[in-house]
Amino acid sequence: MAVPSNLTAVITAVTVAICSVYVLASKRGKKGDLKSEKLTENKRKGKGVVGAIGNTPLIRINSLSDATGCEILAKAEFLNPGGSVKDRVAVKIIEEALDSGKLSRGGVVTEGSAGSTAISLATVAPAYGCKCHVVIPDDAAIEKSQILEALGATVERVRPVSITHKDHFVNIARRRAAEANKLAQQHKYEKDASNTNHTNGYLSENEKQNEVITGEYKGGFFADQFENLANYRAHYEGTGPEIWEQTGGKLHAFVAAAGTGGTVAGVSRFLKEKDPGIKCFLVDPPGSGLYNKVKRGVMYTREEAEGKRLKNPFDTVTEGIGINRLTENFKMAQLDGAFRGTDIQAVEMSRFLLKNDGLFIGSSSAMNCVGAVRVAKLLGPGHTIVTILCDSGMRHLSKFCNPEYLSQHGLTPSAKALEFLDCK
Ligand SMILES: Cc1ncc(COP(=O)(O)O)c(C=O)c1O
Repeated sequence: MAVPSNLTAVITAVTVAICSVYVLASKRGKKGDLKSEKLTENKRKGKGVVGAIGNTPLIRINSLSDATGCEILAKAEFLNPGGSVKDRVAVKIIEEALDSGKLSRGGVVTEGSAGSTAISLATVAPAYGCKCHVVIPDDAAIEKSQILEALGATVERVRPVSITHKDHFVNIARRRAAEANKLAQQHKYEKDASNTNHTNGYLSENEKQNEVITGEYKGGFFADQFENLANYRAHYEGTGPEIWEQTGGKLHAFVAAAGTGGTVAGVSRFLKEKDPGIKCFLVDPPGSGLYNKVKRGVMYTREEAEGKRLKNPFDTVTEGIGINRLTENFKMAQLDGAFRGTDIQAVEMSRFLLKNDGLFIGSSSAMNCVGAVRVAKLLGPGHTIVTILCDSGMRHLSKFCNPEYLSQHGLTPSAKALEFLDCK
């Protein structure tokens, strides 16, 4: 049937009008988006290196996703400027301490850390005009203290002892901050006393010189990543919301191992508040008591129960994860369950991801991926599971990524695929 030409004209006019409105509206939307993107971008730029921390990509781990039928996604935290997830924590700890007046610009931030947090503190402290002093156990990978010293931090390597011992690295770090505060107090007292001796209130050239030298007595602040809830807040306000936004809220589970517990606590609490249906899990390395805490409410390790506890606190080649005390940060976690992971599984996983995805990751990241596959098997295909890639294998060249070291510990990888997790 022929359509009258005036009707064709009307239809064309209406179509053009609708299209114009749509194009205009979408342009306006785009302009608005661009504007807000620019604002965020400017905010980041204005903050220097600190502005480059966070907003890490959420990577699809293709090999694990294809093998499990789930979407296995991981936050690439090794891309932070200081090389790990702990950059977020370092910034939050320093900013909260400066805001509260517990730390002054020019002061020293002390920390007892097996590495990553200290490296992040050493990286960002100068951006706040502060210095960094770290105490670490002498069995931590040597490259960690080399990096710290290269970053300008002062490092004390001490024998690993129980946390109840006064010379545990965490307790020494706390003491160093107290000592710096005492020195600052003493210096202030002496300066006040010498000022009252001046008749005209002006300093001589010599005294001005002294002022410059002793101006460094600005006191200390113990970062205390295990108990300081700024750690949990870094993830509750940063990592958690980013995961929520990057998945469009479409995720079913989150899994991670815990050291201080800050990551698992901040992320799990944020995600559960957004959607209580999201399942959150812990994956725990050998020697850690957290698995039992989550599953049975009591904190003892399998090694202790079997009388096999070694001298080393964590009986594992993984670093930064596993703990035998309940930290304030971990207490904030909202978990639905826990898995145990073994050293050989973490080693095999790291080699599998290197071979199949080109991902060169550290021991805790590998353990997190072991956890992600465990969750995928528990939930079944079709689920979206998020985990964390905490740091890169570059941090682990002397131990976890060293074939000789691994063979000495009976941890030479041999898997062809994911059979070490009962997957093909
Ligand atoms: C490399 C690495 N991965 C993971 C963790 C564990 O994260 P969290 O302390 O937030 O539990 C740490 C903690 O120190 C770490 O250093």
